[in-house]
Formats: sequence, structure tokens, C-alpha cells
Amino acid sequence: MLLLALDQGTTSSRAIAIDASGEAVAAASRPLAARYPRPGWVEQDAGEIWSTQRDAAAEVLAALGDRAERIAAVGVANQRETVVLWDRATGEPLGPAIVWQDRRTTPACRRMIDRGLEDDVRARTGLRLDPYFSATKAAWLLDDTEGLRERALAGEVALGTVDAWLLWNLTGGRVHATDVTNASRTLLLDLASGSWDEALCDRFGVPRAALPEVRGSLSFFGEVGSADRGLEPLRGVAVRGILGDQQAALLGQGCLGPGPVKCTYGTGCFLLTHTGPTPPASENRLLATAAAGGPGEAFALEGGVFVGGAVVQWLRDQLGFAETTREIAALAASVPDAGGVVLVPALAGLGAPHWDPDARGSVQGLTAGTTKAHLCRAAIDAIACQVAELVDAMAADLGDGAATELRVDGGASANDGLMQLQADLLRMPVVRPRRLEATALGAAVAAGVGAGVWDSLEAAVGRCTPGADRFEPRMDEAEAHRLRGRYAEAVARCRGWNDGR
Ligand code: G3P
Repeated sequence: MLLLALDQGTTSSRAIAIDASGEAVAAASRPLAARYPRPGWVEQDAGEIWSTQRDAAAEVLAALGDRAERIAAVGVANQRETVVLWDRATGEPLGPAIVWQDRRTTPACRRMIDRGLEDDVRARTGLRLDPYFSATKAAWLLDDTEGLRERALAGEVALGTVDAWLLWNLTGGRVHATDVTNASRTLLLDLASGSWDEALCDRFGVPRAALPEVRGSLSFFGEVGSADRGLEPLRGVAVRGILGDQQAALLGQGCLGPGPVKCTYGTGCFLLTHTGPTPPASENRLLATAAAGGPGEAFALEGGVFVGGAVVQWLRDQLGFAETTREIAALAASVPDAGGVVLVPALAGLGAPHWDPDARGSVQGLTAGTTKAHLCRAAIDAIACQVAELVDAMAADLGDGAATELRVDGGASANDGLMQLQADLLRMPVVRPRRLEATALGAAVAAGVGAGVWDSLEAAVGRCTPGADRFEPRMDEAEAHRLRGRYAEAVARCRGWNDGR
């Protein structure tokens, strides 16, 4: 028996076949490009989101050969909040996918904040009025093309986060549905009940007729019916699990109830803790969100920074510092410290706990002796400092003694230097599972439980959770304090930089 996990992330689309012990049997990945047409704008091609995911899946199916027949179900984990609009009749995208990092709807959010709407929105959705979330992006797309809003009202246009777009394509255009964890990132879901909130749809100008049906994360979502080449072995296989990638990683890390805190170091860094059957309330500018389960059944407290591993890619691609991210990590490790340089990677504004869409990145403390290696080291420091801020906010919300160790996963968590620094700054152990694919594992677990491969999430997680590496704090406490203080000062100077000049 095998499960096929599709992990559609911001920078790549991955497919992994996983067996009943959680072991990856075959894997494939395709890079996914982004466009930056104006400062603060981030777009992707919706067609490419699907084609890269399809091709990664097809490669895994080809590698499996006859064993592809043993695939019991498909699970999907995906970059969240990113919005796609498409024509229900032709399945063609109507405009670009607006990516979660995109800041173009900052003015729309600000107008709503000025009208005093934020507290009500937060009470209903658990989220903040920030351009990060889907609703204002969807409204922007509907207004950008003449006649689109009218067509959406007439039911001719489908709207969805990336999971809904993938599901539509996987099922050959038969199913327009989303799962509750993805829906909880839109600003349109009543978090407590897990159903679309009509008042919010009106307020954000998103026609209810365009929205997908909300289902539990472990539901039957439909059967693969795509006619696309390479997917033939999947025909008729059920899609039985869909989750936002961060909620998938929470599940893949075995966090099924209150207690453990996980952080995924991907494009951004996302810290989540499961809070059980009641939506959490944050006093420290974190979010309440849905965790894997039925609508209104399971919740999590979340803090996310928008640029985590992405700063390393930025040094590689935009500044041309190296050919690979591994070389950037090696450059960072080649110097004892950042030489007084502090880099704040607010490339997409600041997320939790600052929530400042107008913050912009900065590099401070340059001298004639500053080298590429120092800048790379400053980038690694910044990732760890940002996560440390999130952990502090979460610890403050959860109360004394609640957060005692950090479970980590995602690409950048493979960097031992970063993980050691994280433990040093947090003054708590950092625990890294031997298998870093917690997101894909979470999608597979959801699909496997949905398909009856395991009786429960607990049983699945018990079978699949591997051993772990531990990083204990080693740095002198005063030095950790100094590094964090310097970083906090630099962040303060980045706030509100984008003032329209
Ligand atoms: O909320 C955005 C998040 O889902 C993106 O995840 O893995 O692409 O950093 P990732």
C-alpha cells in the first residue's frame, strides 16, 4: 500500500510516494517561478502551478511502474492564501495567481482598518486585516478585468486557493471544493463554525457563488479524473486528504493536541501549536487558524514570518552570491559571526508579530571589511531571530512553561548551524525529525486515515514518526541576548519604510 502526497509549495511542486511506515519510496520535484511585476507584487502562473505539480506526480508514477497500482489515495498539501480565478466552463485561469507574499492590497486593508473593522474581522476569522490573506487579493482580481465580477456573480467563475485549483484539475474539472484549513486563511471563513461567513463575503466583495465548498481535511474530495498525460495510473484513485502546508506539517510532526510547537523553515517560517477543539485567542498578535479535522473541530495558534529560507534564495538569485543555497550556507559558516552586519529580510513587509505591510528590508552595519560571507551569515542570523520572536509571542500567549522545545522541519532546517543558533537564541532544545518532509508526511497521513489505511491520526503518527536530532543551547546567554537586541533595533528602523515616496 502506498499514498501519494502532493506538496505544492511557493517555490516548488513536489510529489512523494509514501509507504505505511512513512518512508518515501519515490519523489520528484519541479521548480515553480514567481514574477515581481512591481515592488511588493508577487504573481505566479496558475497553469504552471498545475503543470509543475502534474509533472512531479507523473515522474513519481513512472518511477513506481507497476507499484503505482498500490496507491490507495492522494493527499494534497499546498502553499496557502495564494488565490486563483478560473473559468468554470473552460477551466482556463482568469488572470495570474496572486501569491500570499503579494502586498498590492495594502491600501484596501488600510481602508478597512481605518473604518474600524479589524476587531470584528479578527473575532470572526482569527486573522488580521493584512494583504497576506486571500480575500482582498480575490477582490482585486475580480475588479482588474472588466466584466469579471458580473460573471462571478452569475456563477461562471470559480475562485479558490491553490488546493481548490489542484483539486479541480486532478478531478478533470468535476469538483470545486477546499478544505477547512485552507479556507481558514481567506478572511472569509467563520472560524468557529468552519463555514463561509456571508457578511464577510459581502464586506470583502467576494461573491459567494464563486467560492468552493468547504470540507473537512480528511474528507473524500473526489476521484482523479484528469486526462493529462502521465497521470493515467492515478485515474479513479480518491483524493482523501487536503491541508494547508503548515497544518500538514503540524500533523506530520505528530502535533495532534495541545503541547508541542513546530516550526517549518520553508519560503517563510511558520510556527504552529495545536490548541484542541476551541479557537485560541491571541494577546500577542498571533493568528487563530483551523488545524486538520472537520469544519469547526480543531484549531491552532500560528505565527508566521514571510521571508525565511527565501532570504537565502534571494542572496543566490537576485544578488548572485552563489550557484546553490548550499554554497550560501557554507559561506555563512565560513565566518565566526556576521561582523556586525544585521540583515532584516522584510522583503514582503513584516508578518507576525509586527504586521507591517509597509516595512521593507534593510542591511545595517556595513563596513569596508564586510564580505559576502558576512551578509550570508547575517541572513542566517535573521532567520533565527525572526523565529525566536515568534516563539516568544507564542510562549506569552500559552503561559508559563508551555513552550519547552521546538520541533523543526522544512528545507532550511537541514542547516545544522542555523538549528544550533536557533537553540542558542531560544535557550531551549530544537528537535529535528530524521525525515524532514513533515509537510508531505502530513498530507499522506491525512489521505491514509481518510482511506482507512490507519484507524486514526494517532495510529498513523505513531507508525510514521521517526527518531530525531536534538540541538541544545550552547551560546553564552549574554551573547544571545545581544544578537537578538541588535536585530530588534534593526527591525524597528525598517517599519513603515514604504510611505509612497
Ligand atoms: O502561508 C504561506 C505558506 O503556506 C507558504 O508555505 O512552504 O511555501 O513557505 P511555504
